Amino acid sequence: MFTIALLPGDGIGPEIISEAEKILNAVEHIFNIKFQFVEGLVGGASIDAHGVPLTEEVLQLCKNSDAILFGAVGGPKWDHLPKEKRPEQAILKLRKDLNLYANLRPVVLFKALADASPIKQEFLGDDLDIMIVRELTGGLYFGKKGKEEGQNHVTAFDTMEYTDDQIRRVARLAFNIARNRKGHLTLVDKSNVLETSRLWRAIVSEMAADYPHVKLNYMYVDNCSMQLILNPAQFDVILTENTFGDILSDEASVLTGSIGMLPSASLGDEKPYLYEPIHGSAPDIAGTGKANPIACILSAAMMLEYSFGEKSASKAIINAVNKVLDEGYGTFDLRAGAKHVVSTSEIGDIIKKYIGID
Ligand code: IPM
Ligand code: MG
Repeated sequence: MFTIALLPGDGIGPEIISEAEKILNAVEHIFNIKFQFVEGLVGGASIDAHGVPLTEEVLQLCKNSDAILFGAVGGPKWDHLPKEKRPEQAILKLRKDLNLYANLRPVVLFKALADASPIKQEFLGDDLDIMIVRELTGGLYFGKKGKEEGQNHVTAFDTMEYTDDQIRRVARLAFNIARNRKGHLTLVDKSNVLETSRLWRAIVSEMAADYPHVKLNYMYVDNCSMQLILNPAQFDVILTENTFGDILSDEASVLTGSIGMLPSASLGDEKPYLYEPIHGSAPDIAGTGKANPIACILSAAMMLEYSFGEKSASKAIINAVNKVLDEGYGTFDLRAGAKHVVSTSEIGDIIKKYIGID
């Protein structure tokens, strides 16, 4: 039996988490796995109830679980709050406290969605499948930051900091992932300008000797943001630091038709790992039935693979999503990719029906 902590959060978070739970319930029956679900408030929902974005109790609940499924946090209601009280602190604290330093963001184009992407088919290629490995507990997000009020001016700063160990551990994981895929790793940085990027390059190039079957190349982040659109087929695994990974993964999601399609897994040296869609809480569509739960459902599929070693159950979810999209079902964000536009819970129901059917 596996204990899963569900953290729905704000906006569309609760709606997408209940669809993922629906799918996990189906998996329980078909694959004979037992899950126990525990639930906690995070983000704005926790601020409203307890005055803080993440309580000690919820953090403990997560630590006592086998895996965490996170929805989304944030919204205009809490935008005026000072930094340490903002909803986003919930996810940042979880990543840091659980030492989840590697964030895997697969960018996969489901065939049926080629028309949903604003990028022309000829640029997308036939088999778009990129794995972005984003460093998750360092860089600008967690470096020294502050604001100084001078006599005539205000200065604010965020510091990008990396230690050699921080780089090495996430790079090791990226090399191993590349070795089990097409064997191509691209380190994305800004080493023509940034000292941290030069350290990344030095360490990663030194490590390359241990991975003779992985072809390593380097790319500046500005060029990478262009190459992702011009020629995405050139990429297999992209390794990059925290902020660059945040920005590039939103950009790459456009290739797949919608940001509502991209799941992620945040891994470390110890469990529990955390799974979450890469999109935000979309407060503008919350409660309308328009949210796309597929990123969250695919995050649950990643959980089955990476936390529980249930590869065939994970595959079954991905296959079900593929079939449902092939039949033309989709949520409103998929535009031209969906012949039959259905609601959040309807698409969850349809995907559920296809689990375990070959
Ligand atoms: C993401 C999000 C988060 C991030 C926010 C919500 C703090 O954009 O997971 O990509 O910046 O990491
Ligand atoms: Mg982001």
